[in-house]
Amino acid sequence: MNMRAFWLGLVVGTVFTCLLGQWVFSAASKEIDPPKGISPKIAADYIHSVIQADRTFYTSEIVERMQAGGIVYASEHWKEDGELPLPAQFVLETGRLVAKQQNGIRYRLISSWPINKKNAPTTEFERIALAKILVNTDHPYTGVTTEGKTRVFQAVYADKALSQMCADCHNVHPKSPKRDFKAGDVMGGILLTIPLPQ
Ligand code: HEC
Repeated sequence: MNMRAFWLGLVVGTVFTCLLGQWVFSAASKEIDPPKGISPKIAADYIHSVIQADRTFYTSEIVERMQAGGIVYASEHWKEDGELPLPAQFVLETGRLVAKQQNGIRYRLISSWPINKKNAPTTEFERIALAKILVNTDHPYTGVTTEGKTRVFQAVYADKALSQMCADCHNVHPKSPKRDFKAGDVMGGILLTIPLPQ
């Protein structure tokens, strides 16, 4: 091999390796590039998992421990009685605080058989969602709705009787329109509302 051919080979080889390296690098970095923005459905799933975790922790580590120790009990009229809010009220009250923040995110508990009439569905979307989650219990019912001129994303997640205690308390409550809940039944739903870019 003469020197010219050697140098030419070296130059061509180097250029080729650099170009290939660039291509491999850009292909690899495309893979790890995070997608721009997250879908409202995924955002709703994230928020829902936080609400559920907080409610579960409040129920097991505060309400149940306090009650077991005879220290303080959870009661529907917790404000007047100086007791602890029920777990459902914990969700409703934190939802009210969130709604005050003016960033457009809201959540509340709704049901077709509400003990508290304020928790009844108020829109067609909510009524349909409550019927759908009775059948498709493991997936939220979602959709884009409008509030005035504002477009919002809404999701309703089934709220199930995790234990017989949920069912028993609702079944015997004087204001409950349904008296045959069983453990595992869908008792209502968590409605999440997320503002969309307008
Ligand atoms: C000690 C009684 C009691 C227990 C136990 C209880 N709830 Fe309730 N629940 C209530 C009361 C009272 C309300 C109404 C609260 C309000 O709006 O102030 C309510 C509200 C709700 C609502 C909103 C609709 C409605 O009925 O007003 C849902 C959904 C709900 N509870 C589901 C559950 C689930 C699921 C469990 C178990 C994990 C549970 N509840 C355990 C008493 C109870």
